Formats: sequence, structure tokens, C-alpha cells
Amino acid sequence: MRRRATAVAHPNIALVKYWGKRNAEYNLPAAGSLSLTLQGLSTQTTVEFVDHQPSDLIILNDRVLRSGHERRIVDFLDLMRSISGINLPAVVRSTNDFPTAAGLASSSSGFAALAAACVVALGIDVGPAELSVLARRGSGSAARSILGGFVEMQPGLAEDGSDAYAVPIEPDDHWDLRCLIVLTTRGEKNIGSTRAMEQTRATSPYYQPWIDSVPEDIEVARRAVTDRDFQTLATVAERSCLRMHASAMAADPGIIYWNGLTTTLIHRVRNLRADGLAAFFTIDAGPHVKVFCEAHQVSAVEAMLRAVDGVNDIIRAKPGPGVHIVE
Ligand code: PMV
Repeated sequence: MRRRATAVAHPNIALVKYWGKRNAEYNLPAAGSLSLTLQGLSTQTTVEFVDHQPSDLIILNDRVLRSGHERRIVDFLDLMRSISGINLPAVVRSTNDFPTAAGLASSSSGFAALAAACVVALGIDVGPAELSVLARRGSGSAARSILGGFVEMQPGLAEDGSDAYAVPIEPDDHWDLRCLIVLTTRGEKNIGSTRAMEQTRATSPYYQPWIDSVPEDIEVARRAVTDRDFQTLATVAERSCLRMHASAMAADPGIIYWNGLTTTLIHRVRNLRADGLAAFFTIDAGPHVKVFCEAHQVSAVEAMLRAVDGVNDIIRAKPGPGVHIVE
């Protein structure tokens, strides 16, 4: 056992969304999802199991997490301790090079990096599928960031979640898509994805129709990715995003992640297409808009987005690798 390891992971953005759990304790998704892991944003996490600390110490972006904010990470460390049989407290140091908790999928890279660092530090021997299962226990979307490129999350059937893990579709060099992450505010999101998914499942009349629509979208998106068919991917990705948000908006009380600029950007992207630039949008549990296009048009698309009133920051990303150990 090495006791200490450092891992780097990249967030992923879902092109067919995950929104709803069949089991909340094990983070088992009610349907599959399909994503792209992104280079250009990263989380680096060092974990060290020590005997000189009374309890876990969690440091996120140079600040100690306390007052309950550390709970999800401590729960995850407890899971790793119970699997390994090594009952030592841990020091976790994690840094994101992008805004945390703003709907930018920091939990996907965060738990992917933590899971990978923990298994190496504790000497747990796992392959990518088992690592994806472990990362999923931290956050559903983290299961996908274990792998690079285009990834499919299998919802699985087993009650213990052993078959709910991510599988590769195409590697990161398959298709030079670009993703422009347009930040529409600096604030944190108003309702976390876990609570919002549960509220949608429990109260939205659109929840079940939404879940029922996912398998076909995955089929279409998988084929579009393999064939590098931008038009089809654009259609299915926007449809999946809008249906996910519609199911959340129809909850009681309704969950609205968008702000005015989010809506302006949706229309802007659709107008770009009418002007002959191939682009599509997707939006997660926050107000930011992620715009996808092909590499040869990225400068033109970015210039058009920068011209929108209120847009300041745009983060550029492209297909990236899965989680890796750096120390
Ligand atoms: O992994 P979570 O619990 O943060 O959920 C992610 C949910 C969305 O980002 C909105 C959609 C997705 O598939 O990533």
C-alpha cells in the first residue's frame, strides 16, 4: 500500500443527459447517458491516508471544508476504507482550475479523481469498470469521467449497481469537436443535482416520459458519434437537454436553472445554424451554456458568442482523456 496518490480527471458534458435515479443510496441511474470527457478543465486530487490525524481533513481549492460541506467526501472515504479494510483517516487536497459548483460538472471530475487516487493509495486492485462503479457512488456523472473521449453510461439492472458503469464509444482523437463553455454568471447554483433529481422524480408528471425517451436518444447519439454526423448529434443533444430541463421545470415546485442570458444564448446558437455555422447547445444543472462545434468553425462561433451582451467568460475545451495517476 502506497498510502498516498495523486490523480487528474477531466469533467465530462452529457450529450444525452442523466437526470433521475433508480436508487439514491447507490446513485443508480434510472436511464443511461452519453457524454464527452473534456480537456481544458481539470481537477487534481491528492489523497494520503495517515495515522497522525484525528479525523479526515478535506481541502478544496485551498480551503478546508467544514460544517457539513465535507460530508459527501467523508462518506466516500468511508466506503473506500470499508472496501480496503484500512481504517485510517485521510488528508484530501483537491484543486479545480474552473469554477466549482456552478453547474460545470465539477463533481464528475472531482469524484473520478478521488476514486482513482484512493484505489492506488489503498492498494485496491480494480479495472476501469470497477473504478467507474466506485466513482459513481460519489456522483453519477463521475462514473463517465473515468474514461476519455465519447462515453456511454449503462444504467444496469443489478440491485447492487455492479453493472452500472461507463463504457467507451470512441476515443478522444476520433472527432475534433470543440466545446465553448459560456459562463452566464459567477454565482453558485441554486439547487444541487441530487435534490433536484429527487424532486423531479417525486413530483414531475413529465419524469417518466422523460426517462422513457432516453434509450432511443442514446441509440441515435451513439451512431451519430461513430459516423461523425454533426447534424444528427446536434438534434439529439438539444432535444435531450430540453427534455431534461422540461421534466425539472414541471416538478412541484418547478426547478429553473436558466437565467435570461441562458435563454438569449439558446436563441443565438439556433440563429448561428440558420447563418450556416454548425453549432448546438447543451445546459446542465446551472445557467451556463455549453456550445459544441467542429474545430474548423470554432473561432467564428466564439466570436459570435462573445458579441452577445453580458457574455464575459468563455472556457475552451476539446475531447480529453480519462482519469490518470500523476504521482
Ligand atoms: O452527477 P451529478 O449528480 O452531478 O448529476 C449530473 C447531472 C447533469 O449534469 C445535469 C446531467 C449529466 O448527465 O451530467
